[in-house]
Amino acid sequence: MERHIEIFLKRLSYVAILIGTVTFVFLLLKNPDTCVAPGSPPKPHLRFPKSSCDASPRLILPLHKKNNRLWSSKTWQNKVRSFSNFFRAFYQMGLLHNESKVLCASAGAGHEVMALTELGVADVTGIELLESPPLVSRADPHNLPYFDNVFDLGFSAHFAEALFPNRFAAEMERTVRAGGVCVVVVDECGDEEIREIVDLFSNSRFLGALNVTLTGLRMTRIIMKVKRLP
Ligand SMILES: *[C@@H]1O[C@H](CO)[C@@H](O)[C@H](O)[C@H]1NC(C)=O
Ligand SMILES: *[C@@H]1O[C@H](CO)[C@@H](O)[C@H](O)[C@H]1NC(C)=O
Repeated sequence: MERHIEIFLKRLSYVAILIGTVTFVFLLLKNPDTCVAPGSPPKPHLRFPKSSCDASPRLILPLHKKNNRLWSSKTWQNKVRSFSNFFRAFYQMGLLHNESKVLCASAGAGHEVMALTELGVADVTGIELLESPPLVSRADPHNLPYFDNVFDLGFSAHFAEALFPNRFAAEMERTVRAGGVCVVVVDECGDEEIREIVDLFSNSRFLGALNVTLTGLRMTRIIMKVKRLP
């Protein structure tokens, strides 16, 4: 009887060893799912973080596709059209030409940059604290990375939200050439608020203010001409 059990147990272990060996060989020969043939595009679900602290988001959509989606939306196109109408008036006033160098400070996602470019202005620079390539690059409007007197027109639709309005104004005046113009649009306001804003542009002369509708909002457009340095 005991001998029987001994034989049975031996057979059992042979079977176990056989199963183990077959499984091992099978795993050895099988390509794991994580293997990617050289040159083949990476499978999106098989991209692993570089380290446990790698919090960088995975770019699912390539930039041009993301932009195409954004730029083809109705809201985007309506806003750009509104900015185009707004800037057309500057051509008529002789303050903007296709050859003008234009700075759009605090340009957000870049509606005004696209509008100016579509109108035919060849040299438009859009900046914002958060970049939106290719329309808007990253720069601090309080500390512009440009030389003095390089732009013909400085524009901002977000002057009112500036953290330090006098610094913001000083940087626009510094980078816009003498004889060029600084233009800001703010929530619709009266003469007193206009005066306060114009006072911030200490090296400029007030040219005019007008209530306008821009991107569906009632705003006041203020134009100042940068004075020649003494
Ligand atoms: C500016 O350029 C655009 C596009 O090239 C053109 O259609 C327009 O006539 C130009 N405007 C002026 C004033 O030259
Ligand atoms: C613009 O609108 C404001 C508020 O409605 C008004 O006080 C101001 O006089 C208007 N400004 C101009 C230039 O029409």
